[in-house]
Amino acid sequence: MIIGLEDRDDAGVYRLRDDLAIIETVDYFTPIVDNPYDFGMIAAANALSDVYAMGGRPITAMNIVCFPRESMDISVLREILRGGIAKLSEAEVSLVGGHSVSDPELKYGLCVIGIVHPEKVITNAGAREGDALILTKPLGTGIISTAMKARVADEQVVALFTRQMATLNRRAAELMLEFPVHACTDITGFGLLGHACEMVEASDIGMVIDASSVPLMPGVEEYCARELVPGGTRRNREFRSRMIEAQVSDETMLILFDAQTSGGLLISLPAGDGAELIQRMHAEGVKDAAIVGHVVREPKGKIRIT
Ligand code: CO
Ligand code: CO
Ligand code: CO
Repeated sequence: MIIGLEDRDDAGVYRLRDDLAIIETVDYFTPIVDNPYDFGMIAAANALSDVYAMGGRPITAMNIVCFPRESMDISVLREILRGGIAKLSEAEVSLVGGHSVSDPELKYGLCVIGIVHPEKVITNAGAREGDALILTKPLGTGIISTAMKARVADEQVVALFTRQMATLNRRAAELMLEFPVHACTDITGFGLLGHACEMVEASDIGMVIDASSVPLMPGVEEYCARELVPGGTRRNREFRSRMIEAQVSDETMLILFDAQTSGGLLISLPAGDGAELIQRMHAEGVKDAAIVGHVVREPKGKIRIT
């Protein structure tokens, strides 16, 4: 076992041979958008992300379906699965099976297997003093989905947020692997700061995050100011409050802790490589990638927000 339960990383990693390890991960959830095809794409992009975050290449996947047979038309499920398959084929991943159960609440996701060289696994434990921190997607999916459920979200904002969540972290991860990366994780339910806290604990360092440089989805600041904030986002902030030293507004803190679905990668790499990786990402379609902070030795175990 290279990465197990106790590591609290994105996925499990198990060595098969000296030159080959498998990565295993599973993710499923209730619909975050109304369109079933889009939901399928998002669920697949989200499930694949943990393999990319470990520096691996996903190869096979299995569907996990909870479907309310009595109350919902089967065509909805067909569309969800079609969306999932579209993302898997874009990622060049084979669907090898799946399992479905009848459930009053619709849920969909996948179990994904990836491969990686055992010496090239990228964990959340390697961040070093002086590293630059790169975030590859804008924040805000939790807040926007709350606004969407309250029927106040702008149509264009929803379209953009749907496209962001359906975007694979594949290209960002491939570019990352061309650089001497120290640590990586993907941003999901704990939000940017929650996952950054995990990296801080695992790496035994501290971080400084520059709030004004963090990329945000349009609409997020407005909806947050109107208190359209999911419970999970507030819980994230409470849970990690002792690790945060902040000089920013309440709203900014909530956005930085916003629970993400299919969020971007948080990458820690030598400061001298940061600008070049950003340049490569911008040139190759990872347009929102930005340097959002850096790693410090002291204070250990803390994140300072400036
Ligand atoms: Co993850
Ligand atoms: Co996950
Ligand atoms: Co079965």
